[in-house]
Amino acid sequence: MTARAWTWTYEGYDPEAERLREALCTLGNGRFATRGAAPETRCGPAHYPGTYAAGVYNRLTSTVAGRPVENEDLVNLPDWLPLRYRIRPAGDPAPGPWLFPDHPQLTGHRRTLDLRRATLTRWSSYEDGAGRRLTVTERRLVHMAEPDLAVQRTVFTAEGWSGEVEVAAGLDGDVRNSGVARYRELDGAHLTGWETGSGDDGVIWLRCRTRTSGTGIALAARTRTAPRGGTARTDLTGRRAWRVLTVPLAPGAPATVDKTVALHTSLDRARAEPLTAALEAVRRAPAVPRLLASHHRAWQHLWGQVRLDVPGDAGRILRLHLFHLLQTVSPHTARLDVGVPARGLHGEAYRGHVFWDELFVLPFLNLHFPEVSRALLSYRHRRLPAAREAAREAGRAGAMYPWQSGSDGREETQRVHLNPRSGRWVPDHSRLQHHVGSAIAYNVWQYWQASGDTGFLHTKGAEMLLEIARFWASSANWDPALARYRIRGVVGPDEYHDAYPGAGRPGLDDNAYTNVTAAWALSRALELCRTLPEARRRPLFERLDLSHDERQYWDDVAHRLHVPYHRGLISQFAGYGELAELDWAGYRARYGDIRRLDRILESEGDTVNRYQASKQADVLMLGYLFSPSELAGVFGQLGYRLDDDVWRATVDHYLRRTCHGSTLSAVVHAWVLARVRRDDAWTYGEEALTGDIADVQGGTTAEGIHLGAMAGTLDFVQRGMTGLETRDRVLWLDPAPIPQLSKFGVRFRYRRHRGIELRIRADRVRLTVPDSEHAAVRARLRGRPFTVAPGTARELELPEV
Ligand code: BGC
Repeated sequence: MTARAWTWTYEGYDPEAERLREALCTLGNGRFATRGAAPETRCGPAHYPGTYAAGVYNRLTSTVAGRPVENEDLVNLPDWLPLRYRIRPAGDPAPGPWLFPDHPQLTGHRRTLDLRRATLTRWSSYEDGAGRRLTVTERRLVHMAEPDLAVQRTVFTAEGWSGEVEVAAGLDGDVRNSGVARYRELDGAHLTGWETGSGDDGVIWLRCRTRTSGTGIALAARTRTAPRGGTARTDLTGRRAWRVLTVPLAPGAPATVDKTVALHTSLDRARAEPLTAALEAVRRAPAVPRLLASHHRAWQHLWGQVRLDVPGDAGRILRLHLFHLLQTVSPHTARLDVGVPARGLHGEAYRGHVFWDELFVLPFLNLHFPEVSRALLSYRHRRLPAAREAAREAGRAGAMYPWQSGSDGREETQRVHLNPRSGRWVPDHSRLQHHVGSAIAYNVWQYWQASGDTGFLHTKGAEMLLEIARFWASSANWDPALARYRIRGVVGPDEYHDAYPGAGRPGLDDNAYTNVTAAWALSRALELCRTLPEARRRPLFERLDLSHDERQYWDDVAHRLHVPYHRGLISQFAGYGELAELDWAGYRARYGDIRRLDRILESEGDTVNRYQASKQADVLMLGYLFSPSELAGVFGQLGYRLDDDVWRATVDHYLRRTCHGSTLSAVVHAWVLARVRRDDAWTYGEEALTGDIADVQGGTTAEGIHLGAMAGTLDFVQRGMTGLETRDRVLWLDPAPIPQLSKFGVRFRYRRHRGIELRIRADRVRLTVPDSEHAAVRARLRGRPFTVAPGTARELELPEV
């Protein structure tokens, strides 16, 4: 592995690219994360420092287009990064100007993200009018072993001159949520009640709380300098605390300022109130070299648990994706009450909300950190009462999970959103994406299949699965004319279509994805009802008041939900086939990038609802969730025949009519095309890989990474390309030939076996099971059974399809 394979370097300072780089250089540990912003300067057009702690939300009401709009946001916490400096060469009466990247004295800048050690190093050099050069190297980390700590070590070197550097190391509570321009009309002032202070030992602190959720937040910072001998004072204002130090500079001799910060909130478990905890944490924290060493060890351990051996650039990008995934959801997440934030802890887009994106994240985590998957599912389980309440309010039974979820599990989806192209606020009906419930059901099932955690499945898992199934059954209405059940008034994964053209009400009927996944969820719920041990079944049925008749009804719905077709293809929803064809070539010629076709058409006074044009995979999502044989099985159960020809024609149809307005779309298309063995699968694979590093959605990555797509690319290699499924206690393998990536390996955890290795090389497959006292692994390669005993490996030739 060359050093480059583990590092990302941005050479030079480019204000235009700064916010994107900040997002991609975010450091975090699953508990909190901080964007890779320059500490020398405050929030401004090029800079957006942001620190977010998992699960710290606050709700505010703003007035938008004359209407009150309530929004819950992941709160931008006080900034712990500030570190300003200026030099005073010996003999000069006063210090020079404060230095920062936008200052004309900047002569060089480099930022390197070291994935292996999880540190960010910024190197800058400045030269003043008299030719005196100062180099500054700042290295920072958000500690993976001590999840309340962050560290910043800054080394100053005077080249050929002497004097001193004055350093102001601060905690800045004067921050708000203003990282997304589209939200600028919304109130972003989430903090209140600031207090600052300092201790005898020079430790400064800041505390405040969120305005309506009342979460207490405290930060404490300890600074140490070498060499000593300078001055030190504390400067406290209402919302900021500074430690101002001078450090002597001798020519060529590095001077160091170490800043160690602790961040606590009142949501932390087993802690005193946040300020006491933060002060105690910095008091106890060892010196920076030891913190660096323990941080590196923690990451070494993490990297050992997840290995993807993929050569070349793809491997390098996948490592970056894995890095950001582990920074957002880490083993620490297992102790938190949090969901999967769609944009990581890396920015404020989508307000830190939790969508269905866990569908792209948990299947990957299941095979490495099942405890983390379990915790993320428990977040959903704790919000089951809110989902039940939502179903009741909608006149349904069971649990209706929200499309966007935050602190307490109520629906957080906004009712209007801004089209920046037209400047108009338009109604947002995306909350009709009830299919999020199926995603949770799917994850419950997948988690169990991969981990074998029957304890979870039979308790929390069963409650969620049964209540989601109940919701689907109560949403289905019998249509005597069709002799089928129908689910009406929903929105599918392609959220561009949210109503029939000219209709007075939002929602579409018979969304194929919704209905098929509903039928699947109902069947899994019934399967679970049959297999639950009696001691679990009876109390659960009593608690849920689930009768035999109701289960009979579920069974009927699971067999007779409607799936619409047009011209022999699966229709995205009833009536889809009658929609107009879009002039794709014309729109591409006029606009170039047409990913946000919804905004383009709205700004022209038209609507995407009139066209056969999708934002992202909708019907094709079925080929993402289910292997061809499983999908054919669900269709068969519903009384439809789904053969290869119909599926291939369906894939072709939607592929030509999708504009990929979501980063998830490329992941799904790569997967689906790989499964049907199409040569263009890798084109989408590459698009998914470059989604964030090249910011393909045009400026959105700066507002937060796309976590679902990042995790999706990892899972594309792990399960999509290998055809790996964990079904019925068997590891199913069916590698898809991708000539551009014909040699790779993955290591994963399956049930009780840790460190199973799967290597694919052209037409050979090698499965190695580490030594243990557990049972042999039962596997099937393209349907052919084989077993691998612990401590052995099997290498097999790939059978013809
Ligand atoms: C996509 C959704 C996704 C959301 C959050 C949207 O653009 O259409 O499918 O859940 O982003 O990532």
